[in-house]
Amino acid sequence: MKKVGFYVDNLVKRVLNYGKFKNSFLKRLPQQFHGAAKLLYYHTFTEEEKKLASEIERFRSQIPALSTAKEIYSYTSPHSNTFKTDEEGKALPGEYTGNSVEAHMKTGSSTFHGILLRRIVAGAGVKRILELGTNTGFSGCYFLSVPGTELVTIEGSAALCEIAKLNMDRISDKHRIMNMLFDEAIDVLLKEKASFDCVFIDGQHEQKATLHYTQRVLPLLKPGALIVHDDIYWSEDMHQAWQKMVQDPTFSQTVDLFYKGVCVLGDGPKAHYDMGECLPRPEVFRKNW
Ligand SMILES: C[S@@+](CC[C@H](N)C(=O)[O-])C[C@H]1O[C@@H](n2cnc3c(N)ncnc32)[C@H](O)[C@@H]1O
Repeated sequence: MKKVGFYVDNLVKRVLNYGKFKNSFLKRLPQQFHGAAKLLYYHTFTEEEKKLASEIERFRSQIPALSTAKEIYSYTSPHSNTFKTDEEGKALPGEYTGNSVEAHMKTGSSTFHGILLRRIVAGAGVKRILELGTNTGFSGCYFLSVPGTELVTIEGSAALCEIAKLNMDRISDKHRIMNMLFDEAIDVLLKEKASFDCVFIDGQHEQKATLHYTQRVLPLLKPGALIVHDDIYWSEDMHQAWQKMVQDPTFSQTVDLFYKGVCVLGDGPKAHYDMGECLPRPEVFRKNW
């Protein structure tokens, strides 16, 4: 019932705020984010996106046939205030738990979220992307579907890396999957002096872990680079991490796209753009987490 109420409220607000969105919000919002904001507002895909999404989605139903294992292990997102480091200051991951192969068909970016990511990177002209959290490679496919992009993606689960490789190979060979924990892989990339113009942080959704990885990837980023955070309304704790990012002077712009929060690296005048000005804000997904 609550969900129905939200959808009605959403529809009403969408109609009432149409003028505000078009004539005020979009006029202030930097052009590079228009595609992403319009997707949230209008919920429509272009013909090209529809074709691409159905091509990418075809892989999902094939996942069970790719593994003979009964279960596939992955690192879960921990509860708030459980973040720990080892003696060297490296982050410890969340619990490593097994789930049926069928359950893994449903994990990873949906079409809507994939197209949202695609519009964010395409809008910003991003070419080199680092992803924390590969899973079965769906977000990776959407990134790689933008012409000219290269992706380095980190995943702790070897079984998921294998599936992700098969998935992403269909779209492009311009990817490197690092089967390591996030902090281990970041160390390797720092030694290699790698550099990126976008990082997507999509694993270990907990405030302190999120802030930790945000700090760790900064030396890998070019000026003006994007840090895209997934699930900024996942828990109160994750939302607090996002609010800290909004206040952080390291970022000249922050954009609240509900399902993703985007930070632009730079020390220019600070600006914050929030879809909540035009649409009802989503409720926090996991209460008391
Ligand atoms: C939410 S999923 C990523 C979804 C994917 N980006 C997509 O949208 O299709 C998060 C993934 O991160 C991995 N992960 C979580 N914490 C990790 C860590 N500390 N090191 C390495 N992998 C980790 C998990 O095993 C899981 O597969």
